[in-house]
Amino acid sequence: MNNFVYNIPTKVYFGENQLSHLGEELSKFGTRVLMTYGGGSIKRNGVYDSVVKSLNEAEIPFIELGGVKPNPRSGLVYEGIALCKKEKVDFILAVGGGSAIDSAKAISLGVLYDGDFWDFYCGKKVPEKGLPIGTVLTIAAAGSEGSSSSVITNEQTMLKWSVGSDVVRPKFSILNPEFTCTLPAYQTACGITDMMIHVCERYFTNTKDVETTDRLCEGLLKAIIEEAPKLMNDLENYQARANIMWAGMIAHNNILGVGRAQDWASHAIEHELSALYDCAHGAGLAVIAPAWMKFVYKHDVNRFAQFAVRVWGCDMDFACPERTALEGIHRFESFLKSIGMPVTFAQLGAKEEDIPFMVQQLCKRESVGVFVKIGAKEAEEIYRLAL
Ligand code: NZQ
Ligand code: ZN
Repeated sequence: MNNFVYNIPTKVYFGENQLSHLGEELSKFGTRVLMTYGGGSIKRNGVYDSVVKSLNEAEIPFIELGGVKPNPRSGLVYEGIALCKKEKVDFILAVGGGSAIDSAKAISLGVLYDGDFWDFYCGKKVPEKGLPIGTVLTIAAAGSEGSSSSVITNEQTMLKWSVGSDVVRPKFSILNPEFTCTLPAYQTACGITDMMIHVCERYFTNTKDVETTDRLCEGLLKAIIEEAPKLMNDLENYQARANIMWAGMIAHNNILGVGRAQDWASHAIEHELSALYDCAHGAGLAVIAPAWMKFVYKHDVNRFAQFAVRVWGCDMDFACPERTALEGIHRFESFLKSIGMPVTFAQLGAKEEDIPFMVQQLCKRESVGVFVKIGAKEAEEIYRLAL
């Protein structure tokens, strides 16, 4: 196991009625708030009204920036930065999912920086400070409510790149599973897929002697596999929503990733799909992750066989561990299909002729993959395995 510092300081209020803590938390950090949100789901399901009521009761002045799109764009980030500077905002509250939260994180960095916020996303600058942010989560998926990352698409270059820094980790996150009950089936399944791959990006590692985090990863995957069908059969099942919501947080706040090298190739390869086609990130991952697994499993057949046996309940074929490894990948892909996810380019609406462009965009990154390094040739093969 590698050395690590464990400091995951986001305070979480989980469950029904936890929004009652919003005023008390905000007054610790800010005097003037910017609220970011998406395209209107929070207005339709009443979350917006509840948040506004809490802000008014706590007498906290706020302004709004709605209209964040899924796969959030740089344009709205620039708008948010200008708004915060003009209105002297000192706290950002994101109400929504990964897109509203990631935009809040990007704005938070940009407000206290003289240059272009994109400098942090293209690796030119390391974040040192940002406005504090908090979240009210409405979708269990990206895990941005507890993560140190933010992903933004640059509209000029169509590069969907991320920054990772504890500076942008939320000060607090309010997770009321009831707020996720209006999420449609497809988006619910996209979220389930995303959180499973957040675990896999950590699970497939070259670091030795990581039994504790291995078992935590496997346990969380098994819990998701058990809860997901309950939720897909009854989208308003509060207990299943609660389990999946907490799984999404744990999957990406890095409790599972400490002390081990992490991969993140599937995410990088997927981001080219959601940048180009504007598909849901989780759906793109459902297409890419099984293809990535089929491409890399020979690098460590035993780890993939372990995944198959411990997570998917496969019998170990001691004479041919490779067969067990492949069976695990097959069961994973079948599971994704069972919750309604696309698993091929065609099902996602992606096109074979775009592969060279996506490979070209992908190769602008400093590096892709740690478990197995992915260059242009490897990326092309993975995209083709997903056709
Ligand atoms: O925009 P609105 O109208 O709010 O609708 C949203 C949006 O259409 C809808 N939605 C959210 N909560 C709802 C709801 N609809 C009904 N009822 C509710 N309660 O769901 C759609 C998707 O929302 P979005 O915020 O885009 O979803 P998600 O949380 O999956 O975020 C995806 C983004 O996060 C990035 C992804 O790449 C993508 O850009 N990621 C961020 C990460 C991070 N910061 O740590 C890590 C992830 O790996 C991921 O890359
Ligand atoms: Zn993800």
